[in-house]
Amino acid sequence: MKILVTGGTGYIGSHTCVELLKNGYEVVIIDNLCNSKKEVVDNIEKITNKQVQFVEGDVRDKDLLRTIFKNNKIAAVIHFAGLKAVGESVEKPLLYYQNNLDSTLNLCEIMNEFNVKKLIFSSSATVYGNPVKLPITEDMEVGKTTNPYGTSKYFLERILSDLYISDEDWSITLLRYFNPVGAHESGLLGEDPNGIPNNLMPYIVKVATNELECLSVFGNDYDTPDGTGVRDYIHVVDLARGHVMAIDKILNTTGVNIYNLGTGVGYSVLDLVNTFEKVNGIKINKKIVGRRAGDIAACYADSTKAYKELGWKAELNLEDMVKSSYNYALKNKNGK
Ligand code: NAD
Ligand code: UFG
Repeated sequence: MKILVTGGTGYIGSHTCVELLKNGYEVVIIDNLCNSKKEVVDNIEKITNKQVQFVEGDVRDKDLLRTIFKNNKIAAVIHFAGLKAVGESVEKPLLYYQNNLDSTLNLCEIMNEFNVKKLIFSSSATVYGNPVKLPITEDMEVGKTTNPYGTSKYFLERILSDLYISDEDWSITLLRYFNPVGAHESGLLGEDPNGIPNNLMPYIVKVATNELECLSVFGNDYDTPDGTGVRDYIHVVDLARGHVMAIDKILNTTGVNIYNLGTGVGYSVLDLVNTFEKVNGIKINKKIVGRRAGDIAACYADSTKAYKELGWKAELNLEDMVKSSYNYALKNKNGK
């Protein structure tokens, strides 16, 4: 059974392709490589010993999408393709709305044309904004987003829900990821952001590999156990497995289903740094600075629904996350 994976050479997409192939699915990837590299395809094939069909191109290109659907019997689509940098989205809102909305609208239009109505969409915990209670459940209010990236995810959730209201043959799964980190244990796949990373784990890794001097801890005066921000870090391989379980379910259902994918455990910035130091035997230079604008104190998931309905729960722990992140960085340092 063939799955079309948009953004499949990206960080989460590549790990998901591995899990799909391991579970007997065939994979077609479309990616314009604006934030990933073609070598990722070889690495997915190396890990799985299976072949991947790779189409280099933009999801906004309807003719290209038509060709893919014409040439392949696609059973379902997992739509990862999108731009995701929060800060950049504030500077370039049109680029973010254009890319994230148009790609999804075009994709759905062509899926409709070919009567493929099973879609898994990458959403984000960012749609919850500053949550009124913790842990976060799927029925809590969404939409109070604070940047164009987050708003694009919120809009797309609404648009996809409207699509189902118009045609109940659709089966749409919205997966709200918490904070994905970690890498494939082989060291062949991982996260490799361009320039100075915005996110905590890639920043710590670059301090560990001496590419950056010192981690700035954004605030230690939050209402959290040690005063630093608390998040639900989830291993990317666990997240990838969640997609396979969502595919297994989507093939036999219709409707809009929403799931939080997180571990349910919140760790602070200092927890992450301390665990990284302990597991990898390396000191991370750090200094406490002021809060980062727009940050919330704490955010973690209640993922009970994903467990009950998909049979999914996170299995890897913080130690696996910090170990695999560093391993990937060490193995890929010379290639940079
Ligand atoms: P990523 O940037 O590594 O992967 C996205 C891929 O999409 C890239 O390979 C990029 O080249 C491709 N792409 C972007 N626009 C495209 C277009 N118009 N046509 C074709 N390809 C295009 O990001 P990721 O971390 O793997 O995230 C995947 C999805 O999950 C994104 O939609 C992201 O918003 C969402 N998400 C990510 C996080 C996170 O922290 N990583 C958290 C919540 C949600
Ligand atoms: N942090 C630091 N120093 C850094 C970077 C981050 O102290 O250099 C702190 C932040 O203040 C926060 C925590 O580390 O307390 C996590 O920050 P990240 O930037 O790694 O992650 P966020 O929770 O801010 O946001 C991420 C993605 C969003 C996504 C959200 C939920 O960037 O796109 O997770 O999925 F919406």
